[in-house]
Amino acid sequence: MPYGNHNPSELTKTVTINTLHKLKGSGEKFVVVALYDAPMAAMAQKCGVEVVLIGDSLGMTVLGYQSTIPVTMEQMIYHVEAVARGNQKSLIIGDLPFMTYATPEDALRNGARLMQAGAQMIKIEGGAWLAETVKMLTERGIPVCAHLGLTPQSVNKFGGFRVQGRSAEDADKIHADALMLAEAGADLLVLECVPSALAKRITADIPIPTVGIGAGLDNDAQVLVINDILGLTEHPPKFSKNFLEEAGDIPGALKKYVADVKSGVFPGEEHRFD
Ligand code: KIV
Repeated sequence: MPYGNHNPSELTKTVTINTLHKLKGSGEKFVVVALYDAPMAAMAQKCGVEVVLIGDSLGMTVLGYQSTIPVTMEQMIYHVEAVARGNQKSLIIGDLPFMTYATPEDALRNGARLMQAGAQMIKIEGGAWLAETVKMLTERGIPVCAHLGLTPQSVNKFGGFRVQGRSAEDADKIHADALMLAEAGADLLVLECVPSALAKRITADIPIPTVGIGAGLDNDAQVLVINDILGLTEHPPKFSKNFLEEAGDIPGALKKYVADVKSGVFPGEEHRFD
């Protein structure tokens, strides 16, 4: 069964970096869900979700913090282990939390801990300043997902959770960062809360897959947080959608999300930024 039919079914093959690169090449979109525990990870595999991300969003979605900044390595490891126990087919990405990759050496030490906990790729937030870190990690066998645009660990620097890259200058900077991180060896790039046109331009210009969240339709993949998919968020962000409302149950909600990403129905106009 090929990946990504429009009628989602259980993953039958293990998803690897090569799978994701092939999907970009074929133009078929893939699906990412940020989730945090074994049963939901198992459900994601059953519903055809190619990539699961143990995001440091868990600080807000599971642990009750106001931002991702308090999240620790120990909390990330605990949740990566749980997800890895529940899912043997999706590619598993773990977030390195705030200030655990401030130097390439920190990134190497902490990235190795997440890989040993069960991650197959680590995600880090930031632009050109991370190029040396990306090179160091990838050369030593730790695949990297970069993250640009609204990078929540920098919320205090941004002055709030705001769309990034709206001025021509800011857009060019994010575009240049994306090129540099791909050149340094990143295998995946999350684009969060950027204008759709900027995400489209980056997706066309870099050889690695882009994963959008609040970044329009023209990415190679989409990511949503499980709490938003299941309507558990009190004030959901504009880019998210409650799929449970329509679907009625959890597997139905995940399958609808997968199908809508694959067919280009999600994200709709109302979920995008200009
Ligand atoms: O922490 C997270 O869940 C994330 C995704 C929303 C991309 O970074």
